[in-house]
Amino acid sequence: MQHFSISSIQTWERFYRANFINSLTGFKSVSLIGTISQSGQTNLAIFSSVVHLGSDPALIGFINRPIKAAPHTLANIQSTGTYTINHVHPSFLELAHQTSAKYPEEVSEFDELGLTPEFFEATAAPFVKESKVKYALTLEQIIPIKVNNTFLVIGKLQSVALEENILLSDGFLELDKASSICSNGIDAYYSTQLIDRYEYAKPGVKPEKLTK
Ligand SMILES: Cc1cc2nc3c(=O)[nH]c(=O)nc-3n(C[C@H](O)[C@H](O)[C@H](O)COP(=O)(O)O)c2cc1C
Repeated sequence: MQHFSISSIQTWERFYRANFINSLTGFKSVSLIGTISQSGQTNLAIFSSVVHLGSDPALIGFINRPIKAAPHTLANIQSTGTYTINHVHPSFLELAHQTSAKYPEEVSEFDELGLTPEFFEATAAPFVKESKVKYALTLEQIIPIKVNNTFLVIGKLQSVALEENILLSDGFLELDKASSICSNGIDAYYSTQLIDRYEYAKPGVKPEKLTK
């Protein structure tokens, strides 16, 4: 095993250290967050910190970097109270990655990169037409994280749009069949493959496999 103490990690070159720390926590889902400003300017950016917070009510969080580094998504969510989260698939991965570039406020990543904004009645925020798994949220709470000037943005689920054949009879979403991508660090993307599903775990009971 290689061992590293935080005091030695802190001496490393900045980008090397960032790659190391960013990939340490492992694979994450990766999504495009779609928003719109009060004046109707759409915005799209890639986020890998999306996390389930609870099912009832259905709450989903994500971490926004400090405002200076990532200003547009957060500002639009604050002003309109709505946003969409769209899974990423191999067919538009490169474009999804490119949304992380610092485009000026007046440039829509949809137009610039050729992704298609799609509007459903449920929300003013744009969905990504090319995405097979997407959902709309309304802003519930923004919690500033003082230790590093980031924000935990908490949204309440309002509606979901799914391509056919992803939803199983027990409510589970077969995201590997949708080719939803996950990421590690800030530049590596992975496809997924189901290993097994198991029944609800109870102490002392070997869980049955749900996958046949
Ligand atoms: C794979 C990947 C994951 C990212 N995840 C996040 C994230 O979870 N939170 C965040 O604030 N920025 C994240 N970023 C950076 C944003 O995409 C980037 O700052 C973007 O320009 C923000 O755009 P905005 O100002 O339009 O919101 C990520 C970038 C990449 C490439």
